[in-house]
Amino acid sequence: MIEPGRGYDPRYPSVADLRKKAKSRIPKFAMDYLEGGCNDEINLKRNMSDFQNILLRPQYLRKKKDLDMSTELFGKKYDAPFGISPIGLQGLIWPNAPEILAKAAFKHNIPYTLSTVSTSSLERIAELTEGNAWFQLYYPREDRVRDDIVRRLETSGYDVLVVLLDVPSFGFRYREIKAGLSMPPKMTFANIWQSMIRPRWGLETLRVGIPSFATLKPYMEKGMSMKQLGKFMDATFTGRVDYDKVKAVRDQWKGKLVIKGVVCEADAEQAVSLGADGIIVSNHGGRQIDAGESTIQSMRHLVNKYKDKYKIMIDSGVRGGPDIGRALACGADFAFMGRVFMYGAAALGSDGGDHTIGLLKAQFRQVMDQLSCDTLADFPQTLIK
Ligand SMILES: Cc1cc2nc3c(=O)[nH]c(=O)nc-3n(C[C@H](O)[C@H](O)[C@H](O)COP(=O)(O)O)c2cc1C
Repeated sequence: MIEPGRGYDPRYPSVADLRKKAKSRIPKFAMDYLEGGCNDEINLKRNMSDFQNILLRPQYLRKKKDLDMSTELFGKKYDAPFGISPIGLQGLIWPNAPEILAKAAFKHNIPYTLSTVSTSSLERIAELTEGNAWFQLYYPREDRVRDDIVRRLETSGYDVLVVLLDVPSFGFRYREIKAGLSMPPKMTFANIWQSMIRPRWGLETLRVGIPSFATLKPYMEKGMSMKQLGKFMDATFTGRVDYDKVKAVRDQWKGKLVIKGVVCEADAEQAVSLGADGIIVSNHGGRQIDAGESTIQSMRHLVNKYKDKYKIMIDSGVRGGPDIGRALACGADFAFMGRVFMYGAAALGSDGGDHTIGLLKAQFRQVMDQLSCDTLADFPQTLIK
């Protein structure tokens, strides 16, 4: 029920409403996978609370022109300064979520980022977005696989490749451990029961098919068991990425290169010498290091020194229009969200992407209007602290 004038379904005017609805529609293990942070989830909460502590000041008597929230990034004009972060195993959270979100992103002209370990193939997402999606690379151990993925990206028309830094180890996530969400996943009695009491999710999963790592199919043997799949993932990818590995991608990839997971000055500096076109200041949504600082704090340490070197983007903790405004006021060029869009897809199925982007645009427009910002460049002047 997306109202044309409004651009979103008025029954769900907040991300909290979407989260609540999503929780009622998906099995508990899927919600645990989506929501969980590492250890005591302090970093997960800090990401959000540090955003909330950033204050902006409106200036009402300013002569206001028309409001324009579009922005240019890597030679392309986007309709809004936010996009969709890569999420692994999206189809487990809601069937067909990558396609739902990619289609909506394309319609609204914002970037959708496909994870290497998501459940749609890079070719299918390129087709749905006419080559406008971004791709996030988990680093293959074998050069042969890396080179082949890069070749497939070029053939499919991708322009932006995101290399992930921040999973050298697997985050210690209590919720996932308790839910049996290891690789291979364990089908416990509890998980089967949780699926049975969420029939919409179960029926949709039956209709769409059991989720699989669709982009990785060419490198997998046919008919792999869950146990073999676990071994395959371990054997195929290395979470630890260093300068030389990123350099090898930079040398090969002709398009724009973004490094995701930069939170310290040493990495930001190396990103310059690697010739990165942008960084995403990210801590994986609080899923990797509980003792870490929030990304908005990390970004504030980096922004003045690096804003002229490349584009500075941020994710982790952004939960709506006001947070997008806060990120821009602190110097970000662009903001990404992971969980917010998955709440939308899980809550509203095929309408979820459209609703969530429409809602975020409406929320962000109101923030711009209230602060008397004509363009995104006006945001830094609104920052109080
Ligand atoms: C369930 C889940 C799976 C994720 N999988 C990936 C992934 O495959 N690749 C990646 O680069 N980041 C992954 N991330 C991190 C997101 O891209 C993003 O950095 C994070 O969700 C941002 O935080 P937010 O959820 O608070 O917006 C994942 C995050 C979640 C919640």
